[in-house]
Amino acid sequence: MEMLPRSVRAIFIMVALCAMSAPGIAATPLSYLRSHGAHADPVKTLTWALLVLSIVVVLVITGLVVWGIARSTADQGDVISREGNGLRFVTAGLTLTVIALLGSVVWTMVVLARVGSPPAEPKLTLDINGRQWWWRVRYESDEPGRVFVTANELHIPVGEPVRIKLSSLDVIHSFWVPALAGKTDTVPGQVNTTWIEADAPGVYFGQCAEFCGAQHAHMGLRIVAEPRDKFEAWLREQIAPAAQPNDAVAAAGQETFARRCAACHAVRGTKAGGILGPDLSHLASRATLAAGTIPNTAGHLSAWIADPQHFKPGTRMPAVPLTGSELEQVRAYLATLN
Ligand code: CUA
Repeated sequence: MEMLPRSVRAIFIMVALCAMSAPGIAATPLSYLRSHGAHADPVKTLTWALLVLSIVVVLVITGLVVWGIARSTADQGDVISREGNGLRFVTAGLTLTVIALLGSVVWTMVVLARVGSPPAEPKLTLDINGRQWWWRVRYESDEPGRVFVTANELHIPVGEPVRIKLSSLDVIHSFWVPALAGKTDTVPGQVNTTWIEADAPGVYFGQCAEFCGAQHAHMGLRIVAEPRDKFEAWLREQIAPAAQPNDAVAAAGQETFARRCAACHAVRGTKAGGILGPDLSHLASRATLAAGTIPNTAGHLSAWIADPQHFKPGTRMPAVPLTGSELEQVRAYLATLN
């Protein structure tokens, strides 16, 4: 290494650092270098191809530049000599460039056409509305009894395409579940459509991918893909009205909730019918609170109700003044909503 010029050593070190960070990138839940479905697979293959092509181009150009520098240093400052008028280099360079770029364009067009519509007509349609800073999810159906609203965590059947209708209540957001599909913006006043399909059971993470204000980074989405029968069981539980409180503390919590929280939140089957905030009919069945910001545990739930601004500064949810016992009643009530 000591014999090499400093610039060449710097290039070696940069390539080594990139190589070391690659496995770390692949292990992150939002990695777009792995895919799990008919929408994401062709995009992933194209991504890898373009990535490899770009790396090869950088290496070839870097190699030529280093070779040129080394030669001019060896020749005591002479520039690289050109045989003839040097046109051969230009012709070869242009030909290679045109082949690479044209190939990339054609491949991209083919992939876009392939992922533009699902391979089969989706049986399930979700109406997803982006809001500062959470996702309202409405399961659509021809049967009114199968229509319901939830938030931030949605379940889909494995191996089936699901149509996603995207809209926004306030500003532009972007629906992005990297393992299942590329980004699609949610734009106020218009409906964009995309589709997802998961080919293996599991939890797939999504994230708002368009800067939308202070809590853009805390606008996560969990997609749980599961076999049809498990999905149907989940759907039946979600459709059902909220559970009724089974003890005195939770019953008092239901009353407090109706007085203090129901202007924004709905709990189906009760007096609470607000539509500004997430529907909480089955809050206890969700793994996280505040659009993936904190886990849905008793401690976090109490802390979130007591001071939402601490966890998500700027969130539309205010800290509603509650006494200690009222807070505990509301928490106990929400914990029954499974
Ligand atoms: Cu919503 Cu960024």
